[in-house]
Amino acid sequence: MDVMPGLENVVAAETRLSDVDGERGRLVIAGADVERMEGGFEEVAAALWSAAGLDGAAMAAKLGPARVEAFSRVPSLGAALDVPDGMEALRGAMGQLRSTGELARDAVDVTAAAAVLAAAWARRRAGQPVLAPDPAAGHADDFLRMASGSVSPARSRALDRYLATVSDHGMNASTFVARVVTSTGSDVVSSVVAAIGALKGPLHGGAPGPVLDMLDAIGTADRAKAWLAAELAAGRRIMGMGHRIYRVRDPRAAVFERALETMAAALPAGATERLALARAVEREATSMLTAKHPERPIAANVEFYTAVLLEAVGLPRALFSPTFAVGRVLGWTAHAAEQARTGRLIRPASRYVGPRPD
Ligand code: COA
Repeated sequence: MDVMPGLENVVAAETRLSDVDGERGRLVIAGADVERMEGGFEEVAAALWSAAGLDGAAMAAKLGPARVEAFSRVPSLGAALDVPDGMEALRGAMGQLRSTGELARDAVDVTAAAAVLAAAWARRRAGQPVLAPDPAAGHADDFLRMASGSVSPARSRALDRYLATVSDHGMNASTFVARVVTSTGSDVVSSVVAAIGALKGPLHGGAPGPVLDMLDAIGTADRAKAWLAAELAAGRRIMGMGHRIYRVRDPRAAVFERALETMAAALPAGATERLALARAVEREATSMLTAKHPERPIAANVEFYTAVLLEAVGLPRALFSPTFAVGRVLGWTAHAAEQARTGRLIRPASRYVGPRPD
């Protein structure tokens, strides 16, 4: 048997949730092309949960009250939320949720809780009082207000676009983790906590903060080439570039770029300049990486423009990866439901290369 350390091209499940075409740079989520998707968080939640065989519309309608319920737990989560890393906080705080034993209820609860707990962490970290959810508000709108203390229609719309766009993405590492945990017969809370652990890694969901650090360090477009050359010479990777599946530009980068363009006039001062700098850095990085790896196209991934979008929306960069989790929790829970229906334990093999007893 061949060993496949990264499991590339190993098909571990059939899914109705999303399809990633890495050669053509296309992403379909619950039957819709990501570049033409109009609906926000609640719509994509309903679509993904329905595609997984659940009553998606009824579940999505329960998100508001579930945020209120999650908020009632915040006072008892103190120690878990008071850690410097947002993903660690989310992992610890979500880990204290109790499973109801009912998959659909758990899915709504963890989805609501991810937004509430990520926002509460950000507020406490900034030394500000936590803000209670408004069950009548849209999920993205409510998350933005709870996290940043203010909202505007343009910023809420941009964040809603972001959360819907990152909701699912084929058999990515954290989704696989969620499916593996579910396949053991465990509950959705456990699947999501494990998935958060996987998303925390810089090769998966941890890059958008560092992308912004990179843009800060570069400062102006004329300095991009020298800065990137020094990084590559030092053997470091350029954050926000490259993807395991895409051999062309990640289609989600274009969605975020367009969202930023459309909303530029209503976004805070500086957003337009940031976008121009990001585009210049992307152009330079693409051309340098293509020269370095002519055999393997390395283009911008989702996290490149995530950084610019989430900054424009007014979220602190420490909250970028937790915000990714606030969107991706939809995919995790839908995949958990799909996996549970198969009833099949995921249990790959390994090849022993250690010593054997005589
Ligand atoms: N900067 C510089 N070089 C890169 C690179 C990047 N962002 N991405 C890939 N490469 C290079 C690797 O160094 C490797 O070169 P080598 O063979 O000379 O060592 C080659 O391209 C193949 O890389 P590999 O690690 O096999 O690709 P992968 O499929 O495992 O990588 C990522 C996918 C995402 C892990 C990788 O592109 C990366 O680390 N990107 C930066 C982090 C990031 O943006 N993460 C968010 C992902 S959504």
